[in-house]
Amino acid sequence: MTREHKINISRKECIGCGMCVKDCPVNNIAVKDKKAVIKMQRCLMCGHCVAVCPKAAVSITGFREQPVEIDSPAVLEPQLLLDAIRSRRSVRQFKQQPVDAKVIEQVIEAGRLTPSAENAQDVSYIVLRKDMERYEKIAIRFAKWILPVMKLIKPNARNIIIDDHFFFKKAPAAILVLGKDKISASLAASNMELMAEAHGLGVLYSGLFAMAANYSFKLRRKLHLRHKKVVTVLVLGYPNVRYRRTVQKEAADVSEHLPPGLLSLKRPFSEPFLS
Ligand SMILES: Cc1cc2nc3c(=O)[nH]c(=O)nc-3n(C[C@H](O)[C@H](O)[C@H](O)COP(=O)(O)O)c2cc1C
Ligand code: SF4
Ligand code: SF4
Repeated sequence: MTREHKINISRKECIGCGMCVKDCPVNNIAVKDKKAVIKMQRCLMCGHCVAVCPKAAVSITGFREQPVEIDSPAVLEPQLLLDAIRSRRSVRQFKQQPVDAKVIEQVIEAGRLTPSAENAQDVSYIVLRKDMERYEKIAIRFAKWILPVMKLIKPNARNIIIDDHFFFKKAPAAILVLGKDKISASLAASNMELMAEAHGLGVLYSGLFAMAANYSFKLRRKLHLRHKKVVTVLVLGYPNVRYRRTVQKEAADVSEHLPPGLLSLKRPFSEPFLS
């Protein structure tokens, strides 16, 4: 969290129902004399107390946005979601068509709204849309320098050829996702990918550009990274390739832990893994 926030509970609105007490993850609220009170202001600032209160009695200062009433929760259709996840591919061929700023904003919004460890909300983003070749050139120089070592340790790097579009594949945009906590940044990136695909974009996670950005001093300087760490990079644009079928993936490695006594029934799941 970068800003100061303060939780207020309106004594006038509060009916002492205790819903906020029950839902606070750090036990930071008590009901005294039939009114909710905050124990301390240094909490997760997760906003559950705001979200759960039936009387809208709780508010938190210091945010740029106000809570929005949820009349009917958004519903995701499970099979559609699974089909979307199954048929997505890493895209490495892009059209020259630019990506609208509004679309990029919505992709970043998907990242911003993703949960983060301890609600730190410390994931940040660098959008590259102009001068991409300038950054790519520096990364290419770095890649050419480390490729011989990579070829020694990674068999699948042996046939790699580093051309002028090695990192961005002529894509019109890329978003660097930065964060202290790798998991928080990765979760944000994953939601961003889904949002990009909902807009008809193709995405390539570029671990290689992330590595170049983290280890090339010149690139760090040009990107103004300072102490920040690039966790991943989403290269994005409209796909210039159509995938006609899904690919095969390994079966999920799942096992079910049953109570003692029933252990003999424990079995690894195989296709189909739930029945
Ligand atoms: C964290 C991460 C980093 C990746 N980095 C690269 C990369 O630098 N270059 C690349 O061509 N593909 C990269 N990929 C794509 C993977 O190679 C790809 O996801 C995998 O081969 C499966 O293919 P699919 O995404 O089309 O299902 C990356 C994927 C992930 C999840
Ligand atoms: S949920 Fe709202 S009304 Fe209920 S105790 Fe908490 S602040 Fe008061
Ligand atoms: S913001 Fe979250 S952690 Fe803080 S009091 Fe409300 S529910 Fe508890």
